Amino acid sequence: METKEELLRILVFSASLRKDSFNTKLARLTATVIEKSGGIVDYSEMSEFDCPSMNQDMEANDFHPDGAIEFRKRLLANDAFIICSPEYNGSMPGVLKNTIDWVSRFRPQPFNGRHSLLMSASPSMGGGNHGLWSLRVPLEKLGSNVYPAMFSLATAHKAFTPEGKIADETLSKRFEDNIVTFLNLVEAAKHYPCIKNAWVEFLGEKPDVVTDRVE
Ligand SMILES: Cc1cc2nc3c(=O)[nH]c(=O)nc-3n(C[C@H](O)[C@H](O)[C@H](O)COP(=O)(O)O)c2cc1C
Repeated sequence: METKEELLRILVFSASLRKDSFNTKLARLTATVIEKSGGIVDYSEMSEFDCPSMNQDMEANDFHPDGAIEFRKRLLANDAFIICSPEYNGSMPGVLKNTIDWVSRFRPQPFNGRHSLLMSASPSMGGGNHGLWSLRVPLEKLGSNVYPAMFSLATAHKAFTPEGKIADETLSKRFEDNIVTFLNLVEAAKHYPCIKNAWVEFLGEKPDVVTDRVE
């Protein structure tokens, strides 16, 4: 039996401020999958992380806006984070990038080494997947371990049941599997720290101080 400290804690939020957001629906569904898998969900709203437009002049006297302080606190309190983000014009919403920029100004820089999983929902056929590729860029730059598989829900306006589940059975299973395999990795990193060194190596490559590219 795992103690509460050993259970995985995952921050989940939707990057949409819209009341009837499809990404918020997806974030809520994500939370139920995590709980079903035995994890603890820290569910958040994007509005909690709202920040003024980045302006370096505001950084005098080590100023950090409340939204960035809150996001940092929640990042540090959890083992990983999951963002369900809309795609705006082929990219991430400006409100999300702005918050990431503010949070990146803390030292130590809070995204570094944190595991993340990216998801999207859109009424379009692409499901907002293009936006997730743009979201990977700052997160990877900041050292987050962004999970390779991303989930994008296409035709989101028709994809949910009235109870908020994904109607298509195959897609629903893929969604759950994506989350569970991510949780398995986060769990391995939390409980077996040696994996942090092992998983970045090429298969068959022996760690060597001369050729090691990572550390
Ligand atoms: C400014 C803007 C740009 C958008 N650009 C895209 C886009 O590039 N690709 C896309 O699939 N949907 C795009 N959309 C449509 C959104 O995917 C749609 O409004 C979606 O419902 C937003 O997510 P939400 O339901 O979680 O709020 C755009 C919407 C807005 C407001």
